[in-house]
Amino acid sequence: MLEGKRILLIIGGGIAAFKSLDLIRRLRERGASVTPVLTVSGAQFVTPLSASALSAQKVYRDLFDLTDEAEMGHIELSRSADLVVVAPATADLMAKMAAGLANDLASTLLLATDKSVLIAPAMNVRMWEHAATQRNIATLKGDGVLTVGPDEGDMACGEYGPGRMAEPLAIVEAIGAALADGPLKGKRVLVTSGPTHEPIDPVRYIANRSSGAQGSAIARALMALGADVVFVTGPAEAAMPAGAEIIKVETAQQMADAVAAELPVAAAVFAAAVADWRVTSASNSKIKKDASGSLPSLSFAENPDILAGVSQMKKGRPGLVVGFAAETDDVIANATAKRKRKGCDWIVANDVSPETGIMGGAENAVTLISDLGAESWPRMGKDQVAARLAAKIAEALG
Ligand code: C5P
Repeated sequence: MLEGKRILLIIGGGIAAFKSLDLIRRLRERGASVTPVLTVSGAQFVTPLSASALSAQKVYRDLFDLTDEAEMGHIELSRSADLVVVAPATADLMAKMAAGLANDLASTLLLATDKSVLIAPAMNVRMWEHAATQRNIATLKGDGVLTVGPDEGDMACGEYGPGRMAEPLAIVEAIGAALADGPLKGKRVLVTSGPTHEPIDPVRYIANRSSGAQGSAIARALMALGADVVFVTGPAEAAMPAGAEIIKVETAQQMADAVAAELPVAAAVFAAAVADWRVTSASNSKIKKDASGSLPSLSFAENPDILAGVSQMKKGRPGLVVGFAAETDDVIANATAKRKRKGCDWIVANDVSPETGIMGGAENAVTLISDLGAESWPRMGKDQVAARLAAKIAEALG
């Protein structure tokens, strides 16, 4: 998928820079060529020699290196690649990009390039969460800069939270998505995925067994056909589809709000297992056992039906709306009725009876229900279901 692709890799100054050496190796294994650019602080973390040995290319470092200008000017360097990748993208590099500064080789290349730019942010949690960085990332996204990560986890500085650079393989996946060329190129497709969590109190919640595997697979398959995917996900176990714009939510209401904020889109696939009800009696403090032995009672309210709401939009409805129906009995009859009731174009129906092992498993056996009737697909991997569905979506969007 990356055979023959040329990547200009800007390595910023952060402890995550060591992972960029592995990234170079992974990209070359897949047939891509990598031209590394080291910022001054990047060179404090990885040596030019290791970057050039792993890439088998000259490493560029200084804007005023006249030999380089004679061989290849910085303008040409910025445009000779298929994609510019910044990993790690430090808070400083992101601020420079957002402000349009060009005071060293990396920032000049980023301002001069006519190619897409993908950044993998990496920094301390507080630096990531700082209003200035959040403003900068929003500006960069608005400018069309693609992002992957940051991940959440333990950080080299000893703190925990978002700010870890995405792993090299996730960056490779995002690069693949950025370079993908197919029938969905330039089309924005929204995918919802995973379960929702409906709080009972600050520590307890109501959830379901959805792993998010099918939703992640659909997002990847759509990206492989060139789509720009917006991925709105509840707390899912499955790996996130790197390269998608990922919006994490917890509750159905948050999911509904996130979806509304991302419209319009060319198509929307609602693969999330959204809770039908939320707890209206949710407590702000942990509910304690009562000494008298009396049991707590919960009251519920219905959650917004996101799929039905989007399907029935009068203005700005996506060109194609796909829902899922997880059923345990009379799968086709129930799903056909659901398609009518919700007003979506297609329903992907599956039998999630425990004996099928589908919910949380690697395989799925689905029936696609459209106005043409029901089309049952043989049992296959969730990746294959996703690829087939993505191909159908591409065909329908024409
Ligand atoms: O009504 P039911 O939950 O069975 O419908 C399933 C379909 O509706 C799925 O596509 C699911 O993502 C979507 N849905 C939704 N919002 C809800 C409930 C379900 O978008 N509140």
